[in-house]
Amino acid sequence: MANLRIDRIRAAAAADLQAATTSAEAETVRVKYLGRQGEITQLLRSLASLPAAERPEVGRQANELKVEIDRLVGEKLALTRAAERRRELEAERPDLTLPGRRPPLGALHPLTRVDDEIVEIFIGLGFAVAEGPEVESEYNNFEALNIPRDHPARDMQDTFYLSEDTLLRTHTSPVQIRTMQAQRPPVRVICPGKVYRRDADITHSPMFHQVEGLAVDRDISMGDLKGTLELFAREMFGARSRIRFRPSFFPFTEPSAEVDVLCFLCGGGGCRVCKQSGWLEILGSGMVHPQVLRNVGYDPEEVTGWAFGMGVERVAMLKYGVDDIRLFFENDLRFLHQFA
Ligand code: DAH
Repeated sequence: MANLRIDRIRAAAAADLQAATTSAEAETVRVKYLGRQGEITQLLRSLASLPAAERPEVGRQANELKVEIDRLVGEKLALTRAAERRRELEAERPDLTLPGRRPPLGALHPLTRVDDEIVEIFIGLGFAVAEGPEVESEYNNFEALNIPRDHPARDMQDTFYLSEDTLLRTHTSPVQIRTMQAQRPPVRVICPGKVYRRDADITHSPMFHQVEGLAVDRDISMGDLKGTLELFAREMFGARSRIRFRPSFFPFTEPSAEVDVLCFLCGGGGCRVCKQSGWLEILGSGMVHPQVLRNVGYDPEEVTGWAFGMGVERVAMLKYGVDDIRLFFENDLRFLHQFA
């Protein structure tokens, strides 16, 4: 009787394990036979009701079967788990043939690019970079530059005053003053920076950028200024570019000139951008006024110099054909991406 039961359990367990294809099913088989309510467990428990003479032999066989089923379940578990792990890894395998994902790259702001380009050209000519504060004294911004008290630029309407004698600089020209106060000639500096004016429309922004240039030494002439700016224009706008000087007035230069570059859109023939004139104004310049040299303790009998001031937004607008200055400051990625 007992032997028959053991054989039946052995056959059933073997069939169950045979049918189990996953580790979860193998686990179910373990519970079915070896669990607390399992068939082997119940079999061992029932030994007590057997005649004493049969007990040792049946007990031995039942224990053997228990060990056997435990081993078979263990083997099945190892097999199914290994297969499952292989399938998992297979599913997670990265496809090395997929094209890579390009990380989004930032780009320099168009104004930074133009600013850098201008400065690099002058560095190539032996100029040093000089910078000054955006909060400036009225003296450095106006007085030392020979800008008279009644000049309209000094008006509250045009200048952001922070107090009676401090203001947001309205141009980079005060960096000329700071540079000359700090060193003796010869001076060759290029001064990029932010400037501020109470002005806002499609070609004016309350904050914009200028680059100032200054060269002071013995025997510096207007010819040096022309030669330098001609070279600059060729580097900046192309080998075929030309410039022209138009007489003008600035309180801090004498003589003064505004400089135009041949319109690089129409090549001088006249178009919408150059308003049919064939020329585009890019900067103001001149020979440093003797009074400005005296104001910084230089002797105008001994040294002379030239200076210029250029609007970076203006150059960038011309170079890239941008017709609204506000685009530079709105941080619209659709606009900025075009310069990447
Ligand atoms: N500071 C002038 C402006 O903001 C530009 C300028 C003109 C600068 C002539 C110069 C110069 O150094 O010589 O309009």
